[in-house]
Amino acid sequence: MKKIVILTGAGMSAESGLKTFRDANGLWEGHDVMEVASPQGWSSNKELVLDFYNQRRKQLLIAQPNKAHHSIAALEKNYMVTIITQNVDDLHERAGSTDIIHLHGELRKVRSINREELIYEWDKDLNLGDLADDGSQLRPHIVWFGEAVPMLDEAIQITKKADLLVIIGTSMQVYPAASLIHYIKPATPIFFIDPNPNILTSNYDNLTIISEKASTGVQKLISMLN
Ligand SMILES: NC(=O)c1ccc[n+]([C@@H]2O[C@H](COP(=O)([O-])OP(=O)(O)OC[C@H]3O[C@@H](n4cnc5c(N)ncnc54)[C@H](O)[C@@H]3O)[C@@H](O)[C@H]2O)c1
Repeated sequence: MKKIVILTGAGMSAESGLKTFRDANGLWEGHDVMEVASPQGWSSNKELVLDFYNQRRKQLLIAQPNKAHHSIAALEKNYMVTIITQNVDDLHERAGSTDIIHLHGELRKVRSINREELIYEWDKDLNLGDLADDGSQLRPHIVWFGEAVPMLDEAIQITKKADLLVIIGTSMQVYPAASLIHYIKPATPIFFIDPNPNILTSNYDNLTIISEKASTGVQKLISMLN
């Protein structure tokens, strides 16, 4: 079986009703990302940050995977598929995909501020005073801007093994996620699905751009693969 590596970003979940942030002038649901997604934001206003992720978590619990999430899950019948997602939602999992690396963490998990390995599943609101087993405050299990990306090495190793790289719904502006494209083997075909694709076509020989939303773009990809 061929190995497909799929790199997804916020655009993948747009048709499930979860907003991207580049489409909203760099705001994430009305917030400057540095306010709600950085260690500086956390130290200056923990309540605001907790409230922001509490809202996102509530919104996620009522969102559903869209057609593109389901079509990608179905690819596992014919291919070895690994998804490397920048998304903090769990819509790939809920659509049935089985091999998913979350580069930027997961909204439905929280962790100790002092011991990164103390991670808990969490579907309710997270408040000041909610403590981990080491007695420390819990924080969202999200990789904030400026923090290390612990899953990066694994994502690089997987990308190196791809027979095909598919990129869906990402502005390719958040690093190091955007740099994964540089780790494919020479001549590996790349498919880029995004209604507003931000990629320099002249840099890649084997690039096919599908300028569409994830739902129709993934259908087009599948018909090209058959
Ligand atoms: N659902 C989520 O988990 C979520 C939502 C917003 C932001 N984020 C976080 O913010 C960061 C944002 O970077 P990013 O590059 O992923 O997103 P981004 O907001 O920077 O870019 C979104 C991209 O999606 C494209 N897009 C919009 N609608 C689309 C659709 N229907 N189908 C396909 N593509 C569509 C846009 O053209 C754009 O290129 C990520 O690190 C992520 O962790 C996550």
